Amino acid sequence: MKKKLTFLGIETSCDETSAAIVQLDKNNNPKVLSNIISSQIKKHEKFGGVVPELAARSHLENIDFVIRESLRKSKTDLITVDGIAATAGPGLIVSLHVGLNIGKSIASSLNKPFVAINHLEGHALSPGLEKKINFPYLLLLISGGHSQFLIVEDVGTYHQLGTTIDDAVGEAFDKTAKILGLKYPGGPNLEKFAESGDDKYFKLPQPIINRGGCNLSLAGLKTAVLRESKNIKGKIKLKKNLAASFQFTINEILKKKTLIAMKQFNEKVGEKNSDFVVAGGVAANKVIRDNLKKICRSNNFNPSFPDFQFCGDNAAMIAWAGIQRFKKNKTDSFETPARSRWPLDLTAPFMKGPGLKLL
Ligand code: KG4
Ligand code: ZN
Repeated sequence: MKKKLTFLGIETSCDETSAAIVQLDKNNNPKVLSNIISSQIKKHEKFGGVVPELAARSHLENIDFVIRESLRKSKTDLITVDGIAATAGPGLIVSLHVGLNIGKSIASSLNKPFVAINHLEGHALSPGLEKKINFPYLLLLISGGHSQFLIVEDVGTYHQLGTTIDDAVGEAFDKTAKILGLKYPGGPNLEKFAESGDDKYFKLPQPIINRGGCNLSLAGLKTAVLRESKNIKGKIKLKKNLAASFQFTINEILKKKTLIAMKQFNEKVGEKNSDFVVAGGVAANKVIRDNLKKICRSNNFNPSFPDFQFCGDNAAMIAWAGIQRFKKNKTDSFETPARSRWPLDLTAPFMKGPGLKLL
């Protein structure tokens, strides 16, 4: 009997072309044998953000090489792989098509199982690559396109507690960085730029801080940054203060909203020293990590962050999600479409647009 389960993961939902080989040993411990990421930062930098057509073309140019590298580095070949997992959404449709189609082609030509992965599920399960996380757990997913609190009941079973009603946290970082004249990608550059700034210098708004449960709103914060930035043109010290004050305000918002989410989680699941997972690109921010760790300590939650290499988009988390779905017999047909929008909790209300009422 074969003892190890080996999956090829493919990720092309936005601007990283990635392929990985993840293996599950007989004790059910995953091992990342390779995780190749080809970033398109340089290509999109001059446009200040991701250009979809450029991203898709770049995925097409790189995907063959990236998959070959993932096989070479892991000393694996496609014949011995047990299944293929590829991101099917949410993301840029033209980018998703590249990885999804190549994943389906490999699986169909070699007659292997195929698993279509929700990118958000990849992030949600990513800390499990390094340590065992116990279900149910509370998840804060903070990336460039999404910011949500969810109860992760099991692989494939999610209950949304709150979400952003406008900008995602990563998006707020990127837009603020742009206002301050920092290069794309804004998040990591702003974190660095803010290091020597005075984080109490500017008092910035915290929209819907006392209402809306653990839903978030960040558009007003970005507008306030834009207003303040007009008075400090060219003054580098003040710019750093503004960056630091922005990051401080995000932390204050996340603190208050996380406390509400923890309370809601405990009411639904019971109080029992549960895991609190923070995942997605913004989980790489050290100031945010420290802030959330502190909250966990005083509220009986165990914090778990993915290793830095698994915070941003990567195929290891896609292969890992694929393995877990495959073990639950959740494979997909080659007809599975790419989806630009694909919530983890399909029953959650849509929280954007006019007419939205928050209590
Ligand atoms: O998960 P991810 O790689 O892609 C999406 O699924 O969106 O997240 C990318 C987002 C970007 O908005 C990026 O600026 C942000 O994560 N990000 C950060 C940091 N590193 C990445 N934001 C704040 N601080 C960071 N250190
Ligand atoms: Zn992502």
